[in-house]
Amino acid sequence: MITLGIESSCDETSIALLDNETILVNTIYSQTEHRDFGGVVPEVASRAHLEKIDRLAQSCFTRTGIAPGKVDLIAVTDSPGLAGALLVGISFALGFHTAWNIPITGINHLEGHICSILFENTDVAFPFLALVVSGGHTSLYRVDSLDEFNCLGETVDDAAGEAFDKVGKLLGFPYPAGRFIEEEAARFSGDISQCPSFPVARCSQGKLYFSFSGLKTAVKYFVSGKNPSEVARQRPALCRAFQQAVIDSLVANARLAARQNGIDRIALVGGVACNSYLREALHRQFPDTAFTPHTSLCTDNAAMIALAGFRRYQRDKLRRPIMNASRTL
Ligand code: KG4
Ligand code: ZN
Repeated sequence: MITLGIESSCDETSIALLDNETILVNTIYSQTEHRDFGGVVPEVASRAHLEKIDRLAQSCFTRTGIAPGKVDLIAVTDSPGLAGALLVGISFALGFHTAWNIPITGINHLEGHICSILFENTDVAFPFLALVVSGGHTSLYRVDSLDEFNCLGETVDDAAGEAFDKVGKLLGFPYPAGRFIEEEAARFSGDISQCPSFPVARCSQGKLYFSFSGLKTAVKYFVSGKNPSEVARQRPALCRAFQQAVIDSLVANARLAARQNGIDRIALVGGVACNSYLREALHRQFPDTAFTPHTSLCTDNAAMIALAGFRRYQRDKLRRPIMNASRTL
């Protein structure tokens, strides 16, 4: 069964083709148009999706030799995301659906991220926990089945990836800054105790909420008033300390959620899950029960959307054209 996946919720335009659960092609265009603005500009994102989506789809069909009429299912991200950006992917999917009379299903973007672990861990046992850490979201879910997602806690202010991007901007890195902060942190060769100390947000007893804006402000105060060469000299230590504070907060809540729910299986997904320090910290905390997707499947991509759609199709045994809106997680 061939599934066409379409993702355009933020600043990645992505088209994928799956043969059952095997990725045939997963093309991603990461929009560089936002670099001068230091963050995603919604109107610019919509236009860039519009300019790229058709060519990306054509290249998927050319590279795989699969004819568009041979697609069995279309899975498209329909929420959450930037309205104009989502509209481009959904309109493209609906056009395809109408032209070829192919079943279509809407997929929640976070459900797609959670499904990204299933490429390598096809039969992970339910229930499991999912720590979704991206530029737009930082949430913990209890996943009882692929139809039952319960949010246990989420950020009350910035998402973890957003904090990486904003701190990166303060330190002079281009957007998106997560990868650059990790690289800079790796240049710090001393002991973490020699780094500046930044606060790790703790929520009231037993609660699973995250907060990263105080951490971002602490970095801002640390660099303000210092001369640029001094900040540049301290940048590796600053990045290491900031990154560690984010990781400590994520892992502490993951540990608490595991204890509260009596579940030790945990999936780490979303763009920030690319971070090797975070991956290691979670694997240390859950030695045999932490699941992480390949880093190429952590940031936004259409293969995870296609897999979520394929799994739903298998569950629902859809046999005729449908337009199914995704659930709200
Ligand atoms: O999942 P994603 O591609 O988009 C959203 O759904 O938001 O996540 C993008 C986020 C950005 O904030 C980016 O800075 C962050 O993931 N990111 C990282 C790393 N690679 C990407 N954060 C920390 N370390 C990384 N290596
Ligand atoms: Zn995402």
